[in-house]
Amino acid sequence: MKRAILLHPDPRLKKVAAPVADITDDLRKLGDEMLEAMYAAPGIGLAAPQVGVLDRLIVVDCVKEEGEAPRPIVMFNPQVVASSDEQNTYEEGCLSLPDLFADVTRPKVVDVTWMDRDGNAQSETFDGLWATCVQHEIDHLEGKLFIDYLKPLRRQMFTRKMVKLKRELARG
Ligand code: NI
Repeated sequence: MKRAILLHPDPRLKKVAAPVADITDDLRKLGDEMLEAMYAAPGIGLAAPQVGVLDRLIVVDCVKEEGEAPRPIVMFNPQVVASSDEQNTYEEGCLSLPDLFADVTRPKVVDVTWMDRDGNAQSETFDGLWATCVQHEIDHLEGKLFIDYLKPLRRQMFTRKMVKLKRELARG
């Protein structure tokens, strides 16, 4: 199944996602379909709420170098367990807000734990773009978007642009 990505504003993007207890075949398949949708977009991360599923599941692959092997990671119940004091600012975007970008400052290095598709506990330290991406995706599981870090006027401007885009798309 081709997974459609929800566009902001959508009430499902504001909800807190539920922890995954058992990794069923359906959830594994969802992870694969999310990776497919992410690569097709193209993007470097996608969270289950963005395809309308309120489970704590994200997929990421921040390999950007031409010719470098892809590194898809499927994370169930991802959690930031430690963050660096050092911060990093990246111009972030989101597949739920296409063509809109803004600088967001987050911890530069994060320790993240998650459960992989086989149910094994995993942990890794992410730095730079990977750290930003994982934090951005985990935010989605809390119903939080990158525009929530912006000043209200800027955020409202982004939302107005999205409302307009959605109206145009609905008209076809
Ligand atoms: Ni996003």
